[in-house]
Amino acid sequence: MERTLILVKPDAMQRGLAFEVLGRLERRGLKLAGLRLLQVDEAMAKRHYGEHEGKPFFEGLVEYITACPIVAAVFEGPDAVAAARQTMGSTKPTEAAPGTIRGDLGIEIGRNLVHGSDSAESAEREIGIFFEGHPVTTWERGTDAWAFE
Ligand code: RTP
Ligand code: MG
Repeated sequence: MERTLILVKPDAMQRGLAFEVLGRLERRGLKLAGLRLLQVDEAMAKRHYGEHEGKPFFEGLVEYITACPIVAAVFEGPDAVAAARQTMGSTKPTEAAPGTIRGDLGIEIGRNLVHGSDSAESAEREIGIFFEGHPVTTWERGTDAWAFE
């Protein structure tokens, strides 16, 4: 079963949308395997967003993700990475389809509510950053046979 790392970004936290974001992913059928409320510091932000270092939006991105506590979650399921990103919608909310988190709840790319890993490899790296020393649990859900074939 694949895992993905989801972050409820500060704009979603400030707007009271943490459980709206997580709930949409849970209702999709993804299984919650880890959950934390945490304050991201600059070092953690730079570790997570290292691939964007040097890009014009990088400093703003670090400021954004460190602005207030966020929720980090691990979801698992078949094709969890792709399923989560589809439910999140395109990075730029004005290009995200209606019915997606960003398409329904966002407008600007710099306030796009949610992060989701872009590959299974990224997910494992990111889970290592956000859940270092914290349990990530895999469990049998009674309804698994009705969500996953
Ligand atoms: P994420 O990592 O947050 O799930 O988003 P993503 O894969 O769809 O987008 P990515 O290219 O990884 O960019 C990471 C985050 O950086 C911000 N961004 N701002 N102002 C800009 O041009 C710009 N480009 C990217 C967004 O918050 C994006 O989610
Ligand atoms: Mg990304």
